[in-house]
Amino acid sequence: MKKKIIVAIDGWSSCGKSTLARALAKQLGYIYVDSGAMYRAITLYFLREHIDWTNETLIPAALEDIELDFRPNENTGEIEIYLNDENVEYLIRDLIVAEKVSEIAAIKDVRAFAVEQQQKMGKKKGIVMDGRDIGTVVFPRAELKIFMTADNAVRVERRFKELVEKNPNISVEEVAENIQMRDYIDANREISPLRQAKDAIVLDNTNLTQDEQLKKALKLVKGAVVA
Ligand code: CDP
Ligand code: CDP
Repeated sequence: MKKKIIVAIDGWSSCGKSTLARALAKQLGYIYVDSGAMYRAITLYFLREHIDWTNETLIPAALEDIELDFRPNENTGEIEIYLNDENVEYLIRDLIVAEKVSEIAAIKDVRAFAVEQQQKMGKKKGIVMDGRDIGTVVFPRAELKIFMTADNAVRVERRFKELVEKNPNISVEEVAENIQMRDYIDANREISPLRQAKDAIVLDNTNLTQDEQLKKALKLVKGAVVA
């Protein structure tokens, strides 16, 4: 049996991490985990329940009421996130969630809650996880670490295309502002800031199609498996 590895994909917002991670996991027959979806689902819960997350003493009790789960879609087979047994895969992509998620993802107890579950999911290897701190904190010994990037304008255009389909009133400026704000908070927070791991390989997909980025990543996996 071929050696199973851990693939950690980190990088800036909207640069194609999830697209690559999902495709890579499918090709390899690995588990795919979208760690950002976990922070987004926690944010959705805090917003719905009106939790005052600026009061850190309230966080542990709130987290106790949250159960996150990844399950495959019955029709497409795509992995989707569940919050307390409710499929929230679609809801968590809203800009309302994106506007608060980086603030909530910077909270110590929230990160500990998510990281513990992420590390458990990686125990048996054979996993592709994307996020911000996967190669640095969650799986510092991952066999393959990819750090993704793409030009700002391209990232905004890609994310705008997705969001405008759901909400025709959304503006490019709003999307650009959100991406810029999240990148800033994510890279500058005290705990587990977004960093390129020393041993990560940079993948700039500004001019790459999804197929091309997958091919490049598969080559990197081959190298990591035989290493
Ligand atoms: O898809 P996009 O790149 O816009 O974001 P995401 O991966 O869904 O992550 C949403 C937010 O969750 C990020 O902006 C971070 O604030 C947070 N996040 C994090 O702190 N650590 C991770 N490993 C993944 C996401
Ligand atoms: O996970 P992250 O926020 O980094 O990005 P994503 O959700 O995977 O990708 C954001 C958007 O860019 C999606 O609509 C992808 O289909 C698109 N994309 C693209 O057009 N070309 C690529 N090479 C990669 C992603």
